[in-house]
Amino acid sequence: MFKSRHKLIFLIALLMIVLSAQMLMAQDQEPIRIAIAVAETGNASLFGQEQIIGAELAAAYFNEQGGVNGRPIELVRQDAATDEAGAISAFNTLIASDVVAIVGPTLSQQAFAADPIAEEAGIPVIAPSNTAPGIPEVGEFISRVSAPVTVVAPNAVNAALAMDPSITDVAVFFAQNDAFSSSETNVFQSVITNAGLNLTTVQTFQTTDTDFTTQITNALATNPQLVVISGLAVDGGNLIRQLREFGYTGLIVGGNGFNTPNIFPVCQQFCEDLIVAQAYSPLNPSEINTTFTQLYSDSQQRTASQFSAQAFAAVQVIVEALTRLDNITPIADLDQATLRSLLNLSILAGGYDTPLGSISFTPTGEIVQAEFYVAQVDMNDDGQTGSFTLVGGE
Ligand code: ALA
Repeated sequence: MFKSRHKLIFLIALLMIVLSAQMLMAQDQEPIRIAIAVAETGNASLFGQEQIIGAELAAAYFNEQGGVNGRPIELVRQDAATDEAGAISAFNTLIASDVVAIVGPTLSQQAFAADPIAEEAGIPVIAPSNTAPGIPEVGEFISRVSAPVTVVAPNAVNAALAMDPSITDVAVFFAQNDAFSSSETNVFQSVITNAGLNLTTVQTFQTTDTDFTTQITNALATNPQLVVISGLAVDGGNLIRQLREFGYTGLIVGGNGFNTPNIFPVCQQFCEDLIVAQAYSPLNPSEINTTFTQLYSDSQQRTASQFSAQAFAAVQVIVEALTRLDNITPIADLDQATLRSLLNLSILAGGYDTPLGSISFTPTGEIVQAEFYVAQVDMNDDGQTGSFTLVGGE
């Protein structure tokens, strides 16, 4: 009895020494740097703020799990702002630094300008939120964890039609200076016409617009029972608010640009009942999503959202791909160009159990994801906060 207690104490002490030695080794090692270049300024920062939260939660969580085989990871933030010039400048700075991969930029519009530079430089880019068609096709170093509009958008219109089968007349709005919005509206318009509905009008605006009086007046003159909007968070949120202020009472479908709780203070109580398709559900019961939603709600005091989950997944993919690579070829022995290149192959080759569900990539870098959802906004009485409540999935 005495002997076995001694033995137990000895084993526990040994375990503690080994664990602390491992932790010290991890702390002693030079961190491996992963870049996050998203919109920290400008209108797209309504998405960027959520992306930073997700990426930072992932970095902290995976470091706690031992980083890359004991080597810590460090997130390098570089503001890609909201325009093409911001993304190009951030990418150039990061390419010249010692980061192994870039998560970013926020907008497809920016990605079409900045990704070719990363492709040329041979650094892996994982797009955390670019949903326009053609992003992974920019080059072999470009992949994404954000499912494209072609896959996600139809679900929202179908959900609206299921909610109100009497809908016949639909008005569409889209931001014509934005690559994602222009592609998403094509998908929406095809779904509407293929369903035999009457597309009464297509109104265009700019992501920088704040007053939508002309477009709303034109659209309401056609008496739509459903309005479908493709835009970004600030312009889109203001458009919804003004539609309701002009007296529109029918259903509204918003595209992926509405997928952040940061729209709530923009459209305020008028966000109520907005229908949005999502590539993420906080209710996914997987172990990693339970961990992520807990970490998110502990730090943010609200429910986890799509842009954060996608950014978490992007960092996770890089960490796991690095670990797999390190198990085959110690990454410390590789020069920068070889490491970036082998990491890209490792990213594309893997399967990942993420908060988005189990994902993998096609050889081009397109995400393969099984589950999509549709949510409806439920605003709180303060008119500033609310939640996305799931109404259906596929
Ligand atoms: N999904 C949006 C885009 O691709 C943010 O630009």
